[in-house]
Amino acid sequence: MRNFEFLSPTKIIFGKNTHEQVGEVIRSYGYKKVLIHYGKGHIKRTGLYDNIVESLGQAGIQTAELGGVQPNPVLSTVRKGIELGRKENVDFILAVGGGSVIDSSKAIGMGIPYKGDVWDFYTDKTPAKTVPIGVILTIAAAGSETSKNTVITNEDGLIKRGAAFECNRPVFAIMNPELTYTLPPYQTACGVVDIMAHVMERYFSAERNVELTDRLCEGVLKTCISNAQTVMNEPENYNARAEIMFAGSLAHNGYLGLGRTEEWVSHRMGHEITAFYGATHGETLSVMFPAWMKYIYKHDTALFAKFFNRVFDVEYDFFEPENTVLRGIAKLESFYTSLGLKVRLRDLNVDENQFSEMAKKANARGKLGNIVKLDDDDLVRIYEIAY
Ligand code: NZQ
Ligand code: ZN
Repeated sequence: MRNFEFLSPTKIIFGKNTHEQVGEVIRSYGYKKVLIHYGKGHIKRTGLYDNIVESLGQAGIQTAELGGVQPNPVLSTVRKGIELGRKENVDFILAVGGGSVIDSSKAIGMGIPYKGDVWDFYTDKTPAKTVPIGVILTIAAAGSETSKNTVITNEDGLIKRGAAFECNRPVFAIMNPELTYTLPPYQTACGVVDIMAHVMERYFSAERNVELTDRLCEGVLKTCISNAQTVMNEPENYNARAEIMFAGSLAHNGYLGLGRTEEWVSHRMGHEITAFYGATHGETLSVMFPAWMKYIYKHDTALFAKFFNRVFDVEYDFFEPENTVLRGIAKLESFYTSLGLKVRLRDLNVDENQFSEMAKKANARGKLGNIVKLDDDDLVRIYEIAY
């Protein structure tokens, strides 16, 4: 096990009706003026927006607001939020939505007190100061509600890039599973796939002596698998929604990666598919993860066989562990298709001619991979397998 330090300060407020406390919660921290940041409007359709405004009003919190965050949030909206936040002199940002809204809020929080261009934080700078954020989560997926990460697309050059700073962890995350009842099935499915991918990016580690986190990862993954069909078939099943929502935060707050190396190849390659073609994050992972596995598993067949045996209950073939892996990858793909998601790039209308450009961009900040370092040609090969 490798050395590590870990602090996850986000207060999780979990359960039915918890969003109604938001005004009191913000007041308890002493914040006075809040920028409410949200997406394309589902919170207005469901009545959540009205609940929030009422709760903030009752607590005497002043507000400004900026809606319109698009899935896979863009820099131009972040810039609008920075301008508005400065003009209105907000001292807190309330993100109401999913990963896109939360990541946009984190970016605005970094940008308001910064004199330079906020994109600097996605290239080489570290923020000295931020406007803090809180979250009301409406979709279990990205895990941004407790993570230190933010992922933004710069429309200029189609660059989708992540940044990770401890100061970006939200102050609190209000997580009411009932708020996810209104999710379209496709978003529910993409969320489950993303949550599982966050665990798998950590499970496939070059570090051997990590039994405890192996077992924690396996537990989260098995919980996702056993509740996935329930949330698809019964969108208002509270207990299943609660398991998935809790899993989403555990998967990505950093805990499951402690003492390990992490991979993130499928994520980085998936981000290029989104940057080029606007694909939904979760569905880039249902395509890229199996392809990455097919290309990589021979570097550590035992690890992949253990994974599929323990997580997907594939019988362990002691004579030919490779058979366990290959049966496992097929089972993983069937699991994704059972959720209604694609597992081939051709079905996402991706053009093969872009593979080398996508590979170059994915590797632009250093070669991807820890189990084995991958150069651009390796990434092209993985895209080809995914096709
Ligand atoms: O725009 P609204 O109206 O909010 O609608 C959203 C959006 O269309 C809708 N939605 C959310 N909650 C709903 C709902 N519709 C009905 N009822 C509800 N309760 O769902 C759509 C997708 O929302 P989005 O926020 O984009 O989803 P998600 O949470 O999957 O976030 C995806 C973004 O997070 C990034 C991804 O790259 C992508 O940009 N990620 C962020 C990470 C992080 N910060 O730690 C890690 C992840 O790996 C990921 O990269
Ligand atoms: Zn993800």
